[in-house]
Amino acid sequence: MTGRYTFRIMPKTTLTYDDRNMFADRAALRGLRAKLKTAKKTILDQAESGEQGWLMLPEDTVMVKRILAMAKDVSSFTTCLVIGIGGSDLGTRAVYSALGSGKGAMALRFAGANTDPDELHAVLETLDLKKTLVNIISKSGDTIEPMATFLVVREALKKAVGKNYSRHVVATTDERTGTLREMADREGFRTLPVPSNVGGRFSVLCDVSLFPLACAGIDIRGLLKGASAQRAEWTSAERFAALQYLAYAKRDRRIHVLMPYSERLREFGFWYRQLWAESLGKDGKGPTPVAAIGATDQHSQIQLYNDGPDDKTVTFIEVEAFDHDLRIPKDAHAPKKLRALGGLSFERIIHAEREATAIALTANTRANGTIRLRNVSCEGLGALIMFFEIATAVSGVLYGINAYDQPGVEAGKKAMHKLLRA
Ligand code: PA5
Repeated sequence: MTGRYTFRIMPKTTLTYDDRNMFADRAALRGLRAKLKTAKKTILDQAESGEQGWLMLPEDTVMVKRILAMAKDVSSFTTCLVIGIGGSDLGTRAVYSALGSGKGAMALRFAGANTDPDELHAVLETLDLKKTLVNIISKSGDTIEPMATFLVVREALKKAVGKNYSRHVVATTDERTGTLREMADREGFRTLPVPSNVGGRFSVLCDVSLFPLACAGIDIRGLLKGASAQRAEWTSAERFAALQYLAYAKRDRRIHVLMPYSERLREFGFWYRQLWAESLGKDGKGPTPVAAIGATDQHSQIQLYNDGPDDKTVTFIEVEAFDHDLRIPKDAHAPKKLRALGGLSFERIIHAEREATAIALTANTRANGTIRLRNVSCEGLGALIMFFEIATAVSGVLYGINAYDQPGVEAGKKAMHKLLRA
């Protein structure tokens, strides 16, 4: 480990990466060693110098105290409407849909990730604004989708609660600059900062997502603990990055599918899709990420993955232990074909579904790997997040691109502002 950071190696890991079916070229992998070393040094140096803030978020106790204090301050509300898009939205959705609200805590609702008027209408129709906290999140403060949504919600709030509307708003934005920051200062909203050295899609472990998640009663310390433990297991994410990169660069596997066998991780696939696409799609390079879901997509996508063009890698996420298991009753009178299912547990079936899919892909020499997650917990989610953030940062160095900017997105944002002004 270089620099002043030494990460503790955890004796038991929440997450492991099984790459036995990736058909890796061992010599090519060995050939990447020096580059991987450089990648690690670069990433740690950037963390140490403060150029990039995402890696050290798990240690930020000041941030945690600030978020928990704010969540306590607003705990009389029953719902939190989270308004944001991209990195200001997907991480919160991923964790919330996996873990849900704690007992007695706020329910989260989402808006601002689209400008579909029917969607916003439906949200406003079903919200009791008198009991709703609105968390508007925009690092830049002028992204059209969330800000347009916020302007409509703010108007509705004014009508519903009068001049006290600003007590219903927490604005999460840049500490100093931007339209939302100016608006917050002028209208007296409570505010939380988006650190200037943490990019949108790397911001799930800071105020951006941790505040609404804390409002929902989710143990944010547990999330950070899981992330910190996973960071100590650097090599698994590094290996994932290296194998995906080699599949892309040497074997033309340019589509990278992530397929969790867990409904609770469905939204996690969309978070991964943004992280991988927006970080690595640059300078004419970049893999195309696909979010699939097992077992459902066995009956939708697997035909293509197994028998279509051999241009993909598939990464499964297997949840080792589900929170609840169900057993199919034994029934001597059940139809003959279904009788064999009697006594089987759902957990066993879903594990067999993933394994069978891996066996079929492997038999066809289709590259696949499996991330095994002990369970869907705060620590588990934190570990998954850190695993993919490290893999993305390492990939940036392997592809020779800047993983932290998004000129293609900014160009679209500028064009849209221009079009709407015309
Ligand atoms: O990762 C990113 O930088 C983007 O996806 C942004 O998060 C997204 O465009 C929203 O930007 P902002 O938070 O400035 O509204």
